[in-house]
Amino acid sequence: MFRRTVAPGIEIKLLEAAEAKALFAVADRNRDRLRRWLPWVDQTRAAEDVRLFILRVLEQYHSNLGPQTGIWVDGVLCGTVGLHPIDWGNRNCSLGYWIDSAQEGKGVITRCCAALLDFAFDELGLHRAEIRCGTANQRSCAVPQRLGFSREGVVRESEWVNDRWVDLVVWGILEEDWRRKRRSRP
Ligand SMILES: CC(C)(COP(=O)(O)OP(=O)(O)OC[C@H]1O[C@@H](n2cnc3c(N)ncnc32)[C@H](O)[C@@H]1OP(=O)(O)O)[C@@H](O)C(=O)NCCC(=O)NCCS
Repeated sequence: MFRRTVAPGIEIKLLEAAEAKALFAVADRNRDRLRRWLPWVDQTRAAEDVRLFILRVLEQYHSNLGPQTGIWVDGVLCGTVGLHPIDWGNRNCSLGYWIDSAQEGKGVITRCCAALLDFAFDELGLHRAEIRCGTANQRSCAVPQRLGFSREGVVRESEWVNDRWVDLVVWGILEEDWRRKRRSRP
């Protein structure tokens, strides 16, 4: 089972169906801030919706298309981070994430993404990773920026989020960029 210690007290772990209720509770109390940027929030009305999502991403993992994980801080589930289905033909992947407001601003997401990039490049042998963020989603854009991704462009009106089109910034990093970035870490 995919599980990584990211830092003392921070762990990412493959989501399990039994966690649906707990994960729904976190998403539900963050509904207003999450729905601004994440198109699935309005369709997620009950723990059962989360359970079906978890079953889908477990299938993804067992088909070798990458893990979607729960983020655990001091043993408490507080968000998710993971890979969208890997494009093996091109050895490309893309990352997505969200976190409980109580854990925002502490570097949890940046460090979880770093652990997933280590996994993607060192263990899976992927070549490129992408993160797509709304152009006005500054907190989200700051994550790939901090990790050394390049801002590669904007795909206009690329995502329908509840009631409006959102332009997305494409952030990309190549395996060699990540190795260079890691070597330069203090
Ligand atoms: C986008 C989102 C996940 C970013 O979360 P975040 O907590 O800001 O990101 P991080 O965990 O990387 O935290 C970064 C902050 O921690 C600080 N930090 C502290 N220790 C740190 C460390 N060891 N490493 C990196 N940053 C650290 C950074 O300086 C930064 O502080 P700042 O916000 O004052 O600039 C969050 O805002 C969210 O859930 N938003 C709603 C959903 C969403 O938009 N998802 C993304 C869709 S594309």
